Amino acid sequence: MPVPADIRPADVGDAAAVADVYRPWVTGSVASFETVPPDADEMARRMTAQPRLPWFVACRDGAVVGYAYGGQHRTRAAYRWSVDCSVYLAAGERGAGTGRALYERLLPELRDLGHVTAFAGIALPNPASVGLHTALGFTPVGVYRAAGFKAGRWHDVGWWQLPLREPPAEPAEPAAWSPGAPARPPEGLR
Ligand SMILES: CC(C)(COP(=O)(O)OP(=O)(O)OC[C@H]1O[C@@H](n2cnc3c(N)ncnc32)[C@H](O)[C@@H]1OP(=O)(O)O)[C@@H](O)C(=O)NCCC(=O)NCCS
Repeated sequence: MPVPADIRPADVGDAAAVADVYRPWVTGSVASFETVPPDADEMARRMTAQPRLPWFVACRDGAVVGYAYGGQHRTRAAYRWSVDCSVYLAAGERGAGTGRALYERLLPELRDLGHVTAFAGIALPNPASVGLHTALGFTPVGVYRAAGFKAGRWHDVGWWQLPLREPPAEPAEPAAWSPGAPARPPEGLR
């Protein structure tokens, strides 16, 4: 696979294709700690959950072959400038720079919406995911030991984090994401 796939914002019309990409990582790996693959309706619900956060898809020859998105790190109010990042590719698409290309769209978008810190939880071992996050500048925070039980055994989860910008003394509210519009930096960042 010589070149990265093309990246574009994702919308609910992509939900079924995104669910297709995700399904094998749920049913056949511990990269996801889910055990029941979400269907298209559930994926559409996640894509439009409030506060709305960015989703991008990677496309090759018109077909969705990967996606990355931001999610709330925790739901309590003081966490609202902190986001979790996730990325999944179709198996045959790995190693061509598409994971990097997705994150190179996602991370600036999260910053421009006003978010301050990106986090990633990675079930260990996962050298490709650790390699991707390290290549994008994430640094290790620590490891949750025996954090999940799947496929007959316990799994550790390593956490990584990336500063998206200098933490402001008085942060503006993060803006909601819209797939049709470029992110508008909040007041004070323009
Ligand atoms: C993790 C994943 C998204 C990485 O995407 P990818 O397109 O294969 O990665 P890229 O080709 O863009 O590589 C990005 C960087 O990661 C590094 N990397 C990729 N695969 C690697 C591997 N197997 N071992 C070590 N480093 C690796 C590359 O060296 C690259 O660094 P560079 O850009 O500075 O050269 C992809 O492998 C995947 O979908 N894995 C299964 C699902 C998954 O584990 N998702 C993450 C859940 S936490």
